[in-house]
Amino acid sequence: MGGKITVFGAGNVGGAVTRRLIERKLCQKVVLVDKTPGKSEGVALDILEASPIDLLEPVCLSGDDLEQTRGSDIVVITAGATRKEGMTRDDLLKINAGIVSECVSKSARFSPYAFYIIVSNPLNVMCQVAMRAGQLPKTRVTGMAGILDSCRFQYFISKELGVSVENVQAMVLGEHGEDMIPIPRYSTVAGVPLPELMSRETIDTLVSHTRDGGAEIIRLMQTSAFYAPASAVIQMVAAVVMDKKKILPCAAYLSGEYGINGAFVGVPVKLGSNGVEEIIQIELTEPERAALSVSAEKVKKQMEILGQAC
Ligand code: LAC
Repeated sequence: MGGKITVFGAGNVGGAVTRRLIERKLCQKVVLVDKTPGKSEGVALDILEASPIDLLEPVCLSGDDLEQTRGSDIVVITAGATRKEGMTRDDLLKINAGIVSECVSKSARFSPYAFYIIVSNPLNVMCQVAMRAGQLPKTRVTGMAGILDSCRFQYFISKELGVSVENVQAMVLGEHGEDMIPIPRYSTVAGVPLPELMSRETIDTLVSHTRDGGAEIIRLMQTSAFYAPASAVIQMVAAVVMDKKKILPCAAYLSGEYGINGAFVGVPVKLGSNGVEEIIQIELTEPERAALSVSAEKVKKQMEILGQAC
């Protein structure tokens, strides 16, 4: 079990992450922070009032006094505006850059050695904003979405083939957005690569569904997804807290890996108690490498728009 985990943003994702941290007993204390007065206290109280029924272990769940965040081992940033129907994640760029930057620069004063997990969108560029605002080393900041996108791909594959999700592994790299890169030949069902199990057309349909996964949920429920994003965060927290050395697709800062310099891009990383312990370099085809570079260029361009050259 870890020590203290701070969650910035008491919205749907932040609330779901907090609840799951407690259920999974992944830390001794959660501090939930939100700029709206009363919000983090309200969410915390709601979760704690379920403890007699759900028999949640009474971890200490605190409100939004930043002093209480001091010495956090992990900080999860979910704060920021969320997409509405018809918006892309990029439409949130300027507003969320300010919010993420403020959260991380304040947080880093209290928790300079924490591992930062970024959830706010547009995710890849928000990782970069966070790294800069907190002057964090690249091993201690990463974005959650490669896991979310891979989970969605896994789920759609399992439905298509009528097999257990437990049999399915999937890999989605690149940016968390329109240009994400699902890699079918590294996606397997009971060890068999996807192209051996279904036609090119079917794979393309599942890939499009995965790319549209976040927007589909917004169309259906008029707000952004939160259960699956929270699960993705929890998988990352567990890998770090338990020093699992687990290989997961996450947004990581590349310094020459895959021929990319100075941008957060979704790649397989090894997560353990030292954060991003290794960037795993897998063999990619020329088109896959080119697609990864497109993701990197997009992040760099967005940083330029923010007036923060890479
Ligand atoms: C999604 C949001 C979290 O993909 O970006 O659902």
